[in-house]
Amino acid sequence: VTAEKGGFDHFMLKEIYEQPKAYRDTMRGRIDESGSKVIFPELNLTEEKIRSINNIHIVACGTAYHAGLVGGTAIERLVRIPVAFDVASEYRYRSPLITPETLVIVVSQSGETADTLAALREAHANGAHVLAITNVVGSSIARDADDVIATLAGPEIAVASTKAYTSQLIAFYLFGLYLAEVRGTQTAEEISHIIAAMQSLPEQVEAMLENTDAIKAYAKHISNHNNLFFIGRGVDYAVALEGSLKLKEISYIHSEAYAAGELKHGTLALIEDGIPVIALATQEALLEKTVSNIKEVKARGAEVMALSHEEHVSSLLKSVDQAFAIPKTLPLLTPALSVVPLQLLAYYASLARGNDVDKPRNLAKSVTVE
Ligand code: G6P
Repeated sequence: VTAEKGGFDHFMLKEIYEQPKAYRDTMRGRIDESGSKVIFPELNLTEEKIRSINNIHIVACGTAYHAGLVGGTAIERLVRIPVAFDVASEYRYRSPLITPETLVIVVSQSGETADTLAALREAHANGAHVLAITNVVGSSIARDADDVIATLAGPEIAVASTKAYTSQLIAFYLFGLYLAEVRGTQTAEEISHIIAAMQSLPEQVEAMLENTDAIKAYAKHISNHNNLFFIGRGVDYAVALEGSLKLKEISYIHSEAYAAGELKHGTLALIEDGIPVIALATQEALLEKTVSNIKEVKARGAEVMALSHEEHVSSLLKSVDQAFAIPKTLPLLTPALSVVPLQLLAYYASLARGNDVDKPRNLAKSVTVE
């Protein structure tokens, strides 16, 4: 069994460490040799069809939904097409406005999630083109979709999804760039610049995985708490949702992810002495605002850990108790790095609590009932 786990104690840890490879495999063959263009030979979606799309719906469950939040934000930013997000179990029941000009993107690691499959069928019934981003090419969702972008993460065994999520981010970034090329919404220079930054991500993840002592120690500390918060703005908020989900799934510690600016509209009432708050502060343009939200929770006794870039750590330490630095990339790509310490945090907190990391109670890897 240890052999299957490649020398790691759990599949989850093995899969966290497989992320650099998963990034490279998901990018391979989808960037032209000069590194200046994204190519998708596998897509049926014609350029004419791409030009006719006037809105995008992203539909998924759980971690895949969180990847969709990041991916849709990137697409909207790069392509200026309005994007709506839905959890699959809600999609059909809100009578979504789907037309033949809607592109529906369903995201699913397994390709078998019942609610996501039902959402795909609803989209088809209304004439939309459906693109699936999935890790299993022979799955029901892959078979029914009009187009498939395969994430090449390899089999994911641990119930808590890690490398599938980050590979979904890579697939979204690539697809967003492809749409931008076809619709001419970004210049060739901007596109090469983003591609170059993406190509550095695997090494940057490797660097983060080399020394995890600080995050281990922090996880041990967190494992003694029963409640905590994650806060962030923009894509940091989307990553906060994923960090919180990961921690809940396997450590059973209750946490909530909040858009940092929304705290004062209710949640601040729950901030009391010593409660841990994990603040994602990777978005330069939003840093000042996030710092003022950090001060709001500090003033009420919270113990704050901030995740940011090296150059901000010393100034952040004036307002927080601890800070961790992640490598520098473009703001839109940051989730592909910032989620890694949060995955490790969940893993080591679960371990410290003596839980079954790979098979958390009450959860299944693939949910084929609605
Ligand atoms: C289950 C898993 C989650 C996963 C979700 C969606 O609840 O426990 O980890 O995110 O299903 O799965 P999918 O295979 O559609 O990505």
